[in-house]
Amino acid sequence: MPEASLDKEKRRILIQRIQELPTLPSTISKIIELVESKSSTSEDLARVISKDQSISSLIIKLVNSAFYGHMRQISSISHAIVILGYTTVRTMALGVSIFNASPGKKAAAFDRGKFWIHSIGVATITRRIATHTPARDGLDMESVFLSGLLHDIGKVIFDHYFNKEYEEIARSAAQKHEWIGDSESSFFGINHSEAGYYLAQKWQFPSTVISAIKHHHNPELCEGEAERAMACMVNLADYLCRKASIGSGGDNEQRPLDEQALSFLGISHAALLEIAQEVEGDREMIESLTLDRK
Ligand SMILES: [Fe+2]
Ligand SMILES: [Fe+2]
Repeated sequence: MPEASLDKEKRRILIQRIQELPTLPSTISKIIELVESKSSTSEDLARVISKDQSISSLIIKLVNSAFYGHMRQISSISHAIVILGYTTVRTMALGVSIFNASPGKKAAAFDRGKFWIHSIGVATITRRIATHTPARDGLDMESVFLSGLLHDIGKVIFDHYFNKEYEEIARSAAQKHEWIGDSESSFFGINHSEAGYYLAQKWQFPSTVISAIKHHHNPELCEGEAERAMACMVNLADYLCRKASIGSGGDNEQRPLDEQALSFLGISHAALLEIAQEVEGDREMIESLTLDRK
């Protein structure tokens, strides 16, 4: 088979495998159901979360982090839900369950632990950036945080379903000092943004979250105003997170600053510097939110 059609075939198989992925894990469907039901209490939500060790330990870490400024150690999930709010807990639970869907190996070229910190970092920074831009219809804080948390979800799919190949990709990106997205494209025919997009579509995420996943490396391709604003925020958050060396996105290459994204959001260079300083203040909280693997 000539090389071009071999690449096409690889791409087709890959997209098909993503489309065949299972629906949301049952713990998460239950959490979403409870949060959406008007009569559920924080006790109901706590009961479901308590059954999942990874989610409950992360929620406890989050509520006890300096970010929420509590003097007293909080150890009960229901108390944590009251402080953090339903939507924050739901978003975190969704993120943890997706990241934990497959066990990652320690000390691998693609380090899942550092990648989780990168994702939490980008989520936190995206939320920071949102507070520096005018409010737009369709951009609520929950989907802002979720977009940041899941922007690179395509990498989890690669790592899960093509583990051996992805190890090689991460190693080769490091050796060649190449952006991991380029290594993915030359290997798989698609990069993580496209892979993540197929998953986000399948799981019916909000449209702003889907387009942020698809276009966080080229926000100018988004169609709607809210979609583009979301992709621009995630793009800049990714830039700041890498610049601050918080976690790892799978490679250590600093991407250039997207000036177009900056001006679309109406953020000046001085304001960007201010946000970068706020990120330094968030660093300890972000780095403390390590994920306990199942
Ligand atoms: Fe990315
Ligand atoms: Fe990223």
